Amino acid sequence: MCGIIGILGTAPVADRLVEALRHLEYRGYDSAGIAVATADGMARLRRAGKLHHLATALLTTELSGSAGIGHTRWATHGAATEANAHPHVAGRVCIVHNGIIENHADLAAELQAGGRQFESETDTEVLAHLLDHMLAGGAPIERIMADLMPKLRGAFAFAALLDGGTQMIVARRASPLAIGFGDSEMYVGSDALALAGLTRRLCYLEEGDWALISRDGAAIFDADNQPVERPVVLSEATGALIGKGNFRHYMEREIHEQPEVLGYTLAYYLDSRNRQPALPVLPFDPCKLPRLTIVAAGTSYYAGVVAKYWLEHVAGVLVEVDIASEFRYREAEMPVGGAALFISQSGESLDTLMALRYARQKAQTILALVNQPESSIAREADVVLPTRAGPEIGVASTKAFTTQLMALAVLSLDWAAKRGRLSADEVADRLQALGELPELIGDMLSNLEPYQPIAHGLAQARDVLYLGRGTSYPIAMEGALKLKELSYIHAEGYAAGEMKHGPIALIDEGVPVVMVAPSDALFEKTASNAREVLARGGRVILLSDAGGVQHIGSFASHIIELPTVHPFVAPILYSVPVQVLAYMTALEKGTDIDQPRNLAKSVTVE
Ligand code: F6R
Repeated sequence: MCGIIGILGTAPVADRLVEALRHLEYRGYDSAGIAVATADGMARLRRAGKLHHLATALLTTELSGSAGIGHTRWATHGAATEANAHPHVAGRVCIVHNGIIENHADLAAELQAGGRQFESETDTEVLAHLLDHMLAGGAPIERIMADLMPKLRGAFAFAALLDGGTQMIVARRASPLAIGFGDSEMYVGSDALALAGLTRRLCYLEEGDWALISRDGAAIFDADNQPVERPVVLSEATGALIGKGNFRHYMEREIHEQPEVLGYTLAYYLDSRNRQPALPVLPFDPCKLPRLTIVAAGTSYYAGVVAKYWLEHVAGVLVEVDIASEFRYREAEMPVGGAALFISQSGESLDTLMALRYARQKAQTILALVNQPESSIAREADVVLPTRAGPEIGVASTKAFTTQLMALAVLSLDWAAKRGRLSADEVADRLQALGELPELIGDMLSNLEPYQPIAHGLAQARDVLYLGRGTSYPIAMEGALKLKELSYIHAEGYAAGEMKHGPIALIDEGVPVVMVAPSDALFEKTASNAREVLARGGRVILLSDAGGVQHIGSFASHIIELPTVHPFVAPILYSVPVQVLAYMTALEKGTDIDQPRNLAKSVTVE
């Protein structure tokens, strides 16, 4: 992971580097650092912890120079200390790096045998020494990079400032990197957001590319070391940092934005004239699709699981869904003429990107459901399905998830209509139910008092179970993920019917069980599972509608009553209370809600 920024400028860069890092904090926030080419040589300022420590230190440190690089880190090799923070320096080279050099130990051993010594535990410092060692041989940079790139294993992007800040070498493999063109200034950054305050004119490096950048421009070389032109595009990313408004946390704001962004996303996928689905044109006929493979990570994966239920049930499509980090290494067969859908808020999760490339090799049509339309996953897809969630800053995904579900719901209805599984009226009914969600969710969010005592109880628990059936099963898993990442309480999401095959052994009065239980076709069975919990002394927190509450509400220790909706749209509605429960429990525990420990918003390592 980590975020990279570099500027070869004509005016002081230190403040601008830190400002750009603010846009990159979503990629990691363990430590941060900058290096500036000053009149007295390369000067570094690094701090462990969040970016504000670095920004505060800069207030009292003179770092004057017009060329520099910066980095915000998510630790992979070595603890989150100042010594391990980037930039790393070796001789002529000052470097920032995102990703992992997998063979760093072998490279380090060779360099140590040649007398090189390391100050940090990072793979990045090894790369700095390797590049410096190769530059010392005096060969032209083209020759050095042709030798260097094959020596490096793993996924990475780096920017190395050389020679007192006159030029930069940058390279990427799998991790993203963009070059920005300014007026007599040149930039490099992990993404369009990093460069947003600096320039809109960007060129994205492609797989295996490297470039030599000076203030006059960039010479780009492809993976075969051939000079290459990459298109310069105008970025839509805005440099404005979104504030929290009247909310305490970005996550709280993003939860409350859901009515609005769900509306935008639905509107995007509807034909405004006849209120029927209007999806981007696909290069295949969904009626003839042998299989749709859905691949994603974390919360986005749970959106994929909901979509599997929808697409199989309402559209009769054969769907396989898998976790990105597993899928790629299964070497799964993929059917001729098949399509693969990759779901990602950031569009940068490396596991998901690599799975996309695997599917590409297997000749699948690639669909990408992303919130960042300029991301790597979007750029490598045949068809991009955007979510209209707007920037999501809180590390825990909320509005990106529900807008993913909204887009997937309309896709399922579109395919159901095309495949003759639902009539136009049936599609219209479900679209109507989707259209009612923004208002219903808005109403729900206007009174969060009932959550307070529940969150207070959850905050005391060591373990929490979330149970659900059908499309409520992935929502149970999502609820558990939200609780553990925000409040550090151990939680598991289970298919309610699977509980009797093992997890029921965990039930006692100390383990709250959150039942995600709209009164749908499976409700009776979920209700039986709730009774099984009660019979073993467990405490049930019931999320259900009026029908469900009437049925089993008297058994529950706490109830959140939700509006009665069409079962098709229930997973979107029920996502919101599990988010709120996790948020309020984290408030009780006093954890760092927007930037929970050990996490990053965008996970660009395997
Ligand atoms: C959890 C969360 C993560 C992400 C996962 C995938 O709240 O946010 O589990 O969903 O890292 O990220 P994207 O969707 O950016 O590929």
